[in-house]
Amino acid sequence: MTVSKIFIAGAGNVGSASAAYMAGKQLGNIFLYDILEDFAVGQAMDINQSLPYWNSDSRVTGCSSIEEMEGADVVVITAGAKRQEGMTRLDLLYKNLDIMYAIGEKVMALCPQAFVHVTSNPVDVLTWALKERWPDMNVTGLGCALDAMRFRFFVAESLNISREAVNCTVVGTHDDNMVPLVGRVNAGGIPVRHLFSKEEEERLIRLVKHGGGDIVKKLKTRSGFFAAAAKVHQIVESHLHNKQHVFPVSVIIDGEYGYKDMALSLPTVIGEKGVHNILEFDLTPEERQLLDVCASSMEKVIAEIRSR
Ligand code: 2OP
Repeated sequence: MTVSKIFIAGAGNVGSASAAYMAGKQLGNIFLYDILEDFAVGQAMDINQSLPYWNSDSRVTGCSSIEEMEGADVVVITAGAKRQEGMTRLDLLYKNLDIMYAIGEKVMALCPQAFVHVTSNPVDVLTWALKERWPDMNVTGLGCALDAMRFRFFVAESLNISREAVNCTVVGTHDDNMVPLVGRVNAGGIPVRHLFSKEEEERLIRLVKHGGGDIVKKLKTRSGFFAAAAKVHQIVESHLHNKQHVFPVSVIIDGEYGYKDMALSLPTVIGEKGVHNILEFDLTPEERQLLDVCASSMEKVIAEIRSR
């Protein structure tokens, strides 16, 4: 049996936790890359020593040579700058764009067939930028898949039911404009919107939209990572095991929902080919209006990048 090779660019919290989840589920052998070699090696040592608990024979190797990406089946890009004092959102965007382009070049040289998954922010824009530069790249971004999982948690808490019973999604862009599709939440197949008061519905939407920010407020200097890493692992698993699971990942769209030439987070089937298809459904006028806000803000950023 061939063992998949997974390369993770960035051994920070999201990268290392993703490596731990993927190695625990024995998805393949993992190369955890960071410019800080000792850090990547130390994280890999720690993860490897946890694997007997999972009865997993995966191997995690810490490295500081990006050439280790050669022949990878999956590349997860978690590397990115953090916003520093005095830095605008656009400064951060350009810094992270440069990081994406540097890693993207390596992907196309060393493993052009790899399934590439981006978690760095702004994730929808960075996903678009990679695909725009390399149209053949098989790339998706974590996008609203993380927010959809948060939404599921908050709905289950609100209704005091099992999280497993709740099905819901979030579309658009992984930022303040994201659209939790509250009218489509179901529990055990039954629509449940009518169980929420107007105030409760607004509270749930606020919790989802601020899910990441609320964590940063507590952690002060860094973002959350357990939820992101769990979702990254599930998306990579769906690809490697051809599960064809549906996630609102960030994908390049070409006419779906009437939008073109941008990336949006939309319900997408992920299997052995990467993106199999984007599921379309009829949006209500209210949902359309909210998704339009995401699309037009994405258009503005794309125009800004093109005029750089
Ligand atoms: C989050 O939402 C930082 O995008 C990350 O937690």
